[in-house]
Amino acid sequence: MSLAQSVAVITGAGQGLGRAFAEILLKNGAKVLLTDINETVGQKTLSELAASHGQDKVAFLKSDVTKETDFQSAFSTAKSKLGAVNIMVNNAGTGNEKDAWESTIDINVKGTIKGTKVALDHFRKDKGGNGGVIINVASIAGLNPNPCGPVYGASKAAIIMFSQCWGMNTDAVSNGVRINVLAPAFAETEMVKALRVGKEIHKPEIATQMLDQVGVLPVEKVAEAFLELVTDTSKNNAILKVSAHMGKGYHSLK
Ligand SMILES: NC(=O)c1ccc[n+]([C@@H]2O[C@H](COP(=O)([O-])OP(=O)(O)OC[C@H]3O[C@@H](n4cnc5c(N)ncnc54)[C@H](O)[C@@H]3O)[C@@H](O)[C@H]2O)c1
Repeated sequence: MSLAQSVAVITGAGQGLGRAFAEILLKNGAKVLLTDINETVGQKTLSELAASHGQDKVAFLKSDVTKETDFQSAFSTAKSKLGAVNIMVNNAGTGNEKDAWESTIDINVKGTIKGTKVALDHFRKDKGGNGGVIINVASIAGLNPNPCGPVYGASKAAIIMFSQCWGMNTDAVSNGVRINVLAPAFAETEMVKALRVGKEIHKPEIATQMLDQVGVLPVEKVAEAFLELVTDTSKNNAILKVSAHMGKGYHSLK
């Protein structure tokens, strides 16, 4: 799939993996609407990416994935500034296991479901769309249990199952919509920095051991795996794992 005529909406794109996904799409010719709840990081990333890729290629909208109306605004903003959206990336995520554990479910699970629902309504050919691809960002933690993040692991397992159920639904497939899951292990972002501090998780000493054993990917490596899920049109209902110690590989739930 050529990205020359493509327009993406990415949630949580102000920093970390979301920003890396925006950069690789821009480098390959797509236009990108960055969305994030954090306006400061979003605007900073916008000015940097606009300087390197062009003012007409990228835009930013402050947006909260817990609000379905914000997704509707993102699609209409992207359409008016960049063109009709055909790539939706549900990337925003958090990993608080303690006082704010419910926000982990609200952002990771409900946010991904809302983003997928709105994207499906825009992409489906039977609803007037032109098709598209949805990438839902889960985690290896949604496949392999660990004692540090039961809520996070459950949230990512929910994203995987939700995406796989839609990916096999003919209402999506026969209407030109692919739905794929990216399941990274540790990547060098603010989220991993917070893991090292260990305040928001259980058993931080085990998280530190896991970081040493598994290693930490540069965000660019995760972005390469992401790009494969976007551009390889043979990939629908796929789960692509990527980690520093094992590299890249597809996973099957069956
Ligand atoms: N970094 C890793 O090791 C790793 C591994 C596996 C999966 N992931 C997943 O990758 C995704 C990105 O993680 P990251 O490491 O880049 O994290 P990060 O903390 O660096 O970035 C997350 C971004 O999401 C934004 N965000 C938070 N709540 C939001 C909301 N309600 N609405 C909109 N935006 C919101 C933040 O402002 C931030 O810019 C997450 O889903 C995470 O679970 C990360």
